[in-house]
Amino acid sequence: MTFQNKPGQDFIRQAPFLAHILDSIQAGINILDREMNILAANSWLDRMYPYKVPLAGKKCYQAFQDRASVCPWCPVVRTLENGQPDSAMVPYILGGQPRGTLEISVYPMLDSSGNVEGVIEYFQDITEKIRDKEKLMQASKMASLGTLVAGVAHEINNPNNFIMLNAPLLQEAWEDARPILEQHARDHGDFKLAGLPFSRISGQMSNLFAGIIDGSKRIKHIVNDLKDFARQSPINTGQNVDMNQVIVKTLNLTQKLINKHTDNFQVYYAENLPLVGGDSQKLEQVIINLILNACQSLNGKDRQVLVRSFYNQEKQAVIVEVVDQGEGISAENLPRITDPFFSTRRKTGGTGLGLAVTSSIVKDHGGILEFASGPGKGTTAKLYLFPSQKKLEGSHIRTIAYSDQVPGHGEKP
Ligand SMILES: Nc1ncnc2c1ncn2[C@@H]1O[C@H](COP(=O)(O)OP(=O)(O)OP(=O)(O)O)[C@@H](O)[C@H]1O
Ligand SMILES: [Mg+2]
Repeated sequence: MTFQNKPGQDFIRQAPFLAHILDSIQAGINILDREMNILAANSWLDRMYPYKVPLAGKKCYQAFQDRASVCPWCPVVRTLENGQPDSAMVPYILGGQPRGTLEISVYPMLDSSGNVEGVIEYFQDITEKIRDKEKLMQASKMASLGTLVAGVAHEINNPNNFIMLNAPLLQEAWEDARPILEQHARDHGDFKLAGLPFSRISGQMSNLFAGIIDGSKRIKHIVNDLKDFARQSPINTGQNVDMNQVIVKTLNLTQKLINKHTDNFQVYYAENLPLVGGDSQKLEQVIINLILNACQSLNGKDRQVLVRSFYNQEKQAVIVEVVDQGEGISAENLPRITDPFFSTRRKTGGTGLGLAVTSSIVKDHGGILEFASGPGKGTTAKLYLFPSQKKLEGSHIRTIAYSDQVPGHGEKP
């Protein structure tokens, strides 16, 4: 506790035990006179405002808010006026930068005649509390958004099912009717269908139907991704899953697409890979999304995609790595790639839901997804799963922007 040398305040100086108590409190306590001079401040405040020590002797607005005059929100002014306790939330400013939020409670100090001769200020750092509250609000907003998205997805699914079921039927009906209409045109001359000459429209009908069928398939795909993303209940991670098997199944499903993008695909399976707790289908979905992204990033068929599994003893993690020699991701885009609807491939049909769904599945598995990338340096996506099912604290997504020196391929197993 530091005190300002002022006549009449010596009683505090003579009470080291009291000072010791005040210094031991994990909150700020200071005493102000009517002119806002700090008469005493405990050591918590010294730690919070290291550049302003000693605090005693300074005006409170200079010491705590870097201001030349009284703060407009000051609760001390009100307490000095009306003699009532007051409080306020104020920014915690250190070195000119806002660092959080403090809650200040102000209590009047009365002299023997009942006049307010000063105040006691009690400071609490509520930065974490506010952050937690915001997180909670964000979580509940996300939950409402999830319900909304799931509802909309459901509503879109029903009419889309009609389109998916009936468009092929209409296409077939058209193919059956076509020779009859062609015969009719030959016998009676060209006629109009939907305002267009039959001779023109008949050649386009197949494309029109194909467009409708493709479009409805795409809607179904997006709706399914949205449903996955908005899923409220965590998935059941109770199966014992062999990640090598997951890779094998994934490659069966994606083989054609891989062949379309690269002649240089390699896969390495670790021996004796421990099983992980999980949902094998959801984990297949994760690996599929990573492989698709890797393939779609390639600029030529000679570029490589490599998939490998291994066990990292030190981290006690089963790791599946998908490495590509594709275009890479800029440092600016890297933190955004798991955001829903973030896509740089919109023109070629990307929805930006692939990694959003992937990251929520990884989170449900208590795993980590790590991306290391840089423009022109390829991308390494690493999925960490923990056989021990240990619950992870902190972020499930990590990104590393390759610096100029770091080569574009992953660590040795
Ligand atoms: N291996 C990769 N190489 C380069 N960019 C990548 C890679 N993986 C992801 N990205 C970037 O992240 C973005 C988001 O990926 P995400 O899989 O979520 O969506 P998408 O592939 O664009 O669309 P879709 O919903 O069809 O998967 C991509 O558009 C791309 O910019
Ligand atoms: Mg994708």
